[in-house]
Amino acid sequence: MSSKIVQNEEDPFEINDLDSGRKLLHEYSGIPDEDMRDHIELIQTKALQVRPYPCIRRYRFLDLIMMTTDVYQEVLDRVKKGEKFMDLGCCFGQEIRQLVHDGAPSANTYGSDLWEDFLSIGYELFKDKDRLETKFIAADIFDDSSPLVGLTGKMNIIYVGDFFHLFSLEEQENAATRVAQLLAPQPGSLIIGRQSGSEIAGEYSRASDTSGRRHFQHNPQSWKELWERIGEKTGIKWSTEVNICPEFKFKSAVREDKSSEVQRLMSAKGLRFIIRQL
Ligand SMILES: C[S@@+](CC[C@H](N)C(=O)[O-])C[C@H]1O[C@@H](n2cnc3c(N)ncnc32)[C@H](O)[C@@H]1O
Repeated sequence: MSSKIVQNEEDPFEINDLDSGRKLLHEYSGIPDEDMRDHIELIQTKALQVRPYPCIRRYRFLDLIMMTTDVYQEVLDRVKKGEKFMDLGCCFGQEIRQLVHDGAPSANTYGSDLWEDFLSIGYELFKDKDRLETKFIAADIFDDSSPLVGLTGKMNIIYVGDFFHLFSLEEQENAATRVAQLLAPQPGSLIIGRQSGSEIAGEYSRASDTSGRRHFQHNPQSWKELWERIGEKTGIKWSTEVNICPEFKFKSAVREDKSSEVQRLMSAKGLRFIIRQL
């Protein structure tokens, strides 16, 4: 019997829309084009069994964000010169692999996630266990006794993608405090990221989450205010650049789809930010 995974034709997300991740898998990991779809879908299926995050279902791990920001060249130059970079809530660690592929020494990079299985799946996705020197740390950002705490003050640049929107406002403030504490307490320490955003800030429920947990979605103003509060709490001042933009890439066949789910997803917004210690 064939083990080929059947693509769900109704799914509005399409591997082929995500060129940056496919390019990385081709160039960095040496995955031939003809094996690309099977490789990606096998990894996705495995990962969804660990934890069914919508970002995995939507192949967000193939959508490289940091390289599209204005500070990417700066990040690359700084990590090449020895500064320490961490991807927090890194899942498979695609942003780290892009940075390394672009010339950053992997020994200067760190990745942390709650689920160790995601870190292992990252090695499988990118086929680099034998050559990547990134320090991966399985840790809960809210745990005051986790190995992350040992890195307090040691990072220079932290990337956080699709992470804060998982939590309530109070939890986000605790997570942001940890991020701030991980950074070296000096001007230029940098936080870069993206997450789901909204024109109107507030709590919302996620269709995929049946736990009853509250999630808070920011608009640019509320996100800036959160970092002002973190500044007051930690005694560190930050400049916050933040903007809101359309979120998803869809396969062309569904762009005309008028169903409410597709329309809702098409109107979803992403919040992108660059936060710099002054
Ligand atoms: C939606 S995924 C985003 C993954 C990746 N950053 C990206 O942009 O594709 C959120 C990630 O945060 C991790 N995560 C969730 N809660 C966490 C916690 N309390 N501490 C650390 N990581 C956590 C999840 O395991 C998951 O990999």
